[in-house]
Amino acid sequence: MNFNELKNVKVRIADGIAWVSLNRPEKRNAMSPDLHFEMVDVLKELAEDTAVRVLVLSGEGDSWCAGQDIKLFFRDLDDKPRERHLARLANHEWRWTLLSSFPKPTIAMVNGYCFGGAFVQLFACDFAIAADEALFGLSEVNWGILPGGLVGKVIVDGLSYRDAVYYSMTGEQFNGKKASEIRLVTQSVPAAELREKTELLAHELAKKNPQTLRTIKESLRLVRGMSVDQAADYLLAKEREMRFLDTERGREQAMTQFLDEKTYRPGYGAYQRNEDAGANQPKESS
Ligand code: COA
Repeated sequence: MNFNELKNVKVRIADGIAWVSLNRPEKRNAMSPDLHFEMVDVLKELAEDTAVRVLVLSGEGDSWCAGQDIKLFFRDLDDKPRERHLARLANHEWRWTLLSSFPKPTIAMVNGYCFGGAFVQLFACDFAIAADEALFGLSEVNWGILPGGLVGKVIVDGLSYRDAVYYSMTGEQFNGKKASEIRLVTQSVPAAELREKTELLAHELAKKNPQTLRTIKESLRLVRGMSVDQAADYLLAKEREMRFLDTERGREQAMTQFLDEKTYRPGYGAYQRNEDAGANQPKESS
């Protein structure tokens, strides 16, 4: 896929990190049908790209994403059922299906406005780092509409019920610091440090065993909807699956390093992966 041909999305891959940004800054990165179609292709491509170990989702300019494009996604499609259906499918496919099950860690780097529909991809990412100055809002109520298209579901699942109700019924805006306080994002940092902090986390994740990371994220997402008995059985099956699929044999390596070679204390960092041997030597003190 030639990323340079994309009109609504920018992709740059460096040091194992895929930097993906919505690229409609003049419309505050509001999501048009064409942006949805492009993102479906981009995520499918990056999922299988062996040069990519972590994905960062951001926005060009001073906005992360101002939600659905009110004109192109809503009003222009009102009388076009076929186009509306295809746009809705793509919209759901990349923001939820492909992103939440992306086989590598994903980080939302929230550089600015995050409104309405943008909450879906925010929750679909494994991590979210926001600028203190970023502005969040469940503004649907101000349009006379519901936080639909999965927004209502992700906020109830991901926030406290009180916060989900408060912010969706008032439409009140809040900044990155508040987003961190209510655990909508993992962390909030001054805008000037946003990229550096995101890169640090991405590099840390890129050092870890990819199969282990993949299994952890798949498992945590799915056990939320299971009973205790189902979760216990499922996690055991995933553990066995991981040992079967892990070509780096991380579990065996870690045990050898801890029990026999005495070169490793797990409390201090990741086990020494083959390509990274020595990078995580046990430290004298934590
Ligand atoms: N859909 C369509 N166009 C949008 C948009 C959206 N969700 N958000 C911004 N735009 C467009 C504006 O119409 C404007 O287009 P124009 O230059 O052709 O007039 C352009 O982006 C810049 O927006 P503007 O409002 O001038 O920028 P701002 O920096 O002053 O304000 C926002 C930014 C995001 C606060 C403001 O645009 C806004 O409230 N957008 C709607 C956000 C929203 O409620 N989204 C959820 C929808 S359910």
